[in-house]
Amino acid sequence: MPRDDANKSADDNAVLRDRQTGSVAEGVRNLHPVYLDRALNAEAWDVDGNRFIDFIGGIGVLTVGHRNPLVMERVAKQCERFTHSCFNALPHEPYVAVTDWLATNCPIEGPAKSMLTNSGAEAMENALKLARAFTGRTGVIAFDGAFHGRTLATLALTGKTKPYKTGLGPLPGPVWHLPYPCPETGVSVGDAMAAIDKLFAVSADPASVGAIVIEPVQGEGGFRACDAAFLVELRRLCDENGMVLIADEIQSGFGRTGKMFAIEHAGVAPDILVMGKGIGGGFPLAAITGAKDVMDALAPGGLGGTYSGNPVACAAATGVFDVLEDENILSRAKQLGEKYATHIAWLRDLPGGQVIGNMRGIGAMRAFEMIADDGKPSPKRLQSLLQLARASGLLLMPSGEHANVVRLLAPLTIPFDQVDEAFAIIAKLLPKVAQVTE
Ligand SMILES: Cc1ncc(COP(=O)(O)O)c(C=O)c1O
Repeated sequence: MPRDDANKSADDNAVLRDRQTGSVAEGVRNLHPVYLDRALNAEAWDVDGNRFIDFIGGIGVLTVGHRNPLVMERVAKQCERFTHSCFNALPHEPYVAVTDWLATNCPIEGPAKSMLTNSGAEAMENALKLARAFTGRTGVIAFDGAFHGRTLATLALTGKTKPYKTGLGPLPGPVWHLPYPCPETGVSVGDAMAAIDKLFAVSADPASVGAIVIEPVQGEGGFRACDAAFLVELRRLCDENGMVLIADEIQSGFGRTGKMFAIEHAGVAPDILVMGKGIGGGFPLAAITGAKDVMDALAPGGLGGTYSGNPVACAAATGVFDVLEDENILSRAKQLGEKYATHIAWLRDLPGGQVIGNMRGIGAMRAFEMIADDGKPSPKRLQSLLQLARASGLLLMPSGEHANVVRLLAPLTIPFDQVDEAFAIIAKLLPKVAQVTE
């Protein structure tokens, strides 16, 4: 897309940074100090006219790209009819179009029902409410390294203290965090099951635990894919003890791993599937879909919200669903994942390639570690790569408990030549990044 000065924002990056310092709360941190001007598919331009390949994709939201044409068409059509009604007051078809799609496409055993929300955290909050109402129990098991949101109850589930929980005091509970079995933690399924047994023996009667909440692939935690056998064990445990299994697929859902939902790799059906990000194609929408009995556990009026399931966001979601199918995005995610894997292996053999550690993830939900010369995590080398890459026209994003994992969250619709271009940028920067020491 050529630069178009007529559409350029009035202020440049430096002026906007000054304005932000005066009026935006410090807690709202920016990863990159550049202000977005416009974007299309996997390319973005800042207010100074710099062009970037976007490997952040709104943190995994833009699965079908910035301003996907079909999504934009559905949004424009909906805007000509009405933009809001509040579904609790006056229902509308776009909401039902989304819940119909979810009922057919979510891996839930038996008939499935849904509710829509504005954000992932709000969806998680409602999943917890339903689990409490259905089981009559308040206890929740969550996992180390998990991220479930920034509201009070979801923070209680999030398995990382800094920066999220610092200074907040007691959070809603009880929540017990247990080890997450995957290659990166070195925790085996046996170890993880032993931790659950110990919890039940020492601290929590299983009859007090209402839900187990797990990301089948941790997002913020560094693209760690849970051992499939553990998900099968959790399903069994929930069935035997009357607990609700909640899968948080806010980041891993909608094709990112090469299946519509990551838990499908394990052949496990959760009781509640929590979704967000990619569902709305860039418009604020999230959802929970679950087994009918669980979803109907709250009294009429117990679920909802003023903007929840906004018709414009729902219309956008119907566009996303059609693009996923029409453009065979699941198979594209697999191809993209293979391309990432080849490129990551190639980087390691280049000058400076010793800074690239292990690859993580499934399908296009891929990441690579940045390591020091002794093989330990190197958040400094990651930061160096992030800044140098931005200056060279590539936007990257960190993750993981040591903030040394580069997660690749480009739209699944990214042209392959832009993937090649992005990795060529990284390749060129490696010798410089290798000079950084911890
Ligand atoms: C796995 C997971 N759960 C929950 C959330 C919270 O979603 P939101 O930021 O839409 O509230 C996120 C956001 O990054 C996430 O990745």
